[in-house]
Amino acid sequence: MEKATQPRAFYGSFFHTPEYGSFEYLERALIEVGEDGAIERVIAHDDPDQAAALAKAREAGTLYELGEGRFGLPGFVDIHIHSPQWPQAALALDEPLYRWLDERTFPLESKFADVDFAKEVYSDLVDQLLARGSTTAVYLGSAHLEATVALAEICAEHGQRALVGKTVMDDPAANPDYYRDASPEQAVRDTETLIREVEAIGRKSRAGAWPVITPRFIPSCTDEVLRGLGNLAESTGAYVQTHCNEGQWEHDVVLERFGKTDPYALRDFGLLREHSIMAHCPYLTEEEGEMFAERGVAVAHCPTANSYFSSAVAPIQRFRSQGIHVGLGTDISGGYSPSMYENIRQAVLVSRLLETGVNAQLPPEERGGLGEGTRLSLVESFWLATAGGAEALGLPLATFEPGRAFDLQVIDVKRPDSDLTGFGVFDEPIDRLARILYLSTPDNVRQVFSQGVLVCDKDAR
Ligand code: GUN
Ligand code: FE
Repeated sequence: MEKATQPRAFYGSFFHTPEYGSFEYLERALIEVGEDGAIERVIAHDDPDQAAALAKAREAGTLYELGEGRFGLPGFVDIHIHSPQWPQAALALDEPLYRWLDERTFPLESKFADVDFAKEVYSDLVDQLLARGSTTAVYLGSAHLEATVALAEICAEHGQRALVGKTVMDDPAANPDYYRDASPEQAVRDTETLIREVEAIGRKSRAGAWPVITPRFIPSCTDEVLRGLGNLAESTGAYVQTHCNEGQWEHDVVLERFGKTDPYALRDFGLLREHSIMAHCPYLTEEEGEMFAERGVAVAHCPTANSYFSSAVAPIQRFRSQGIHVGLGTDISGGYSPSMYENIRQAVLVSRLLETGVNAQLPPEERGGLGEGTRLSLVESFWLATAGGAEALGLPLATFEPGRAFDLQVIDVKRPDSDLTGFGVFDEPIDRLARILYLSTPDNVRQVFSQGVLVCDKDAR
């Protein structure tokens, strides 16, 4: 994959959001990238050093110019996606969660016992994510060890940074016989093996690969396995991910079983640690949120999936003001779209409904809205998809700052079927950024670099 002459200096105009709530437009900047793919220096256009640095890179043949009408954005960080659900993206979303799982998802995921099938699906998924600018993904695999290790290998080969978990679901009372872990002991052993194997892949992967301890969610798991995985998290320090507080059904089932809510049950099993990733959480109370913030637990906000399965909108501004780490996830296929662009948009839209409430037959103050301070701006949503994900994972990614991995998507705003130039009217940087985030299609994303290396080039097709 590595080219003979790797670009080491990238010249063009870039958008990023190092701080929540604001963005920077780096116009005609030069970004110098080290051998290892980390950013070494960002040289602004008005810096007297820029001309010499540009000339030097040009002479060395290591200069990459984004070109006219093109803008750079950081690669996206999708912190919640189910790899084996890719074949059913967009399907059966009219069903409630438990029926969607039983009738669609489990039969589909069980097919990943066939590793050849898994490789075919996963190769396509990883390419499609890269083609939409997602250079980092936090995956839930199927319950199969071999297919999940294959996923990590495919991500490394294709140049995507990956955090990968084998989904654990061992409770015979909750899962079909054709698709579950044989026993809690086997599930923990398989997870131990996964940790070893993915760590080994991570050592040779340029962009990195990390294992994730992944109980599907409490209702799929026995107490034994939850305890075993909590102990494993403690002894290995590996990442943890699960679904938490996604819907009323899950909330009630967990409360009934343990006499406490999902977050406290997960905490007491040892599964809420720094950089544990809890998907969804619309039901998270203020008190539970404080506990998340104290522990450095992250929320994976999946706005599209929540609209289908949660009957609720996660109050992201409250989470942020409580100091909880929050990133964004596509949740393929509880969410239908593999695109983080789509989820940036959805996060903004649903926050507007949460602000006001929605039943216009009631007076405004009775519509259930949370009121002022609830909505997410487009730029805040962009932060969630980039720097927020990086913060959730504790990895130096997703902004154009020295020391961070250089992950870049190059956006062409003048594609024949998707022109984002707005006739030159309203042409401030925020207007350009808004058009890119709201209106771009996969076709506008022309090149993608991951850890400094070209991993997708649509102009070369
Ligand atoms: N809860 C348990 N499993 C799943 C899943 O696959 N998707 C979603 N959205 N919620 C879940
Ligand atoms: Fe999910």
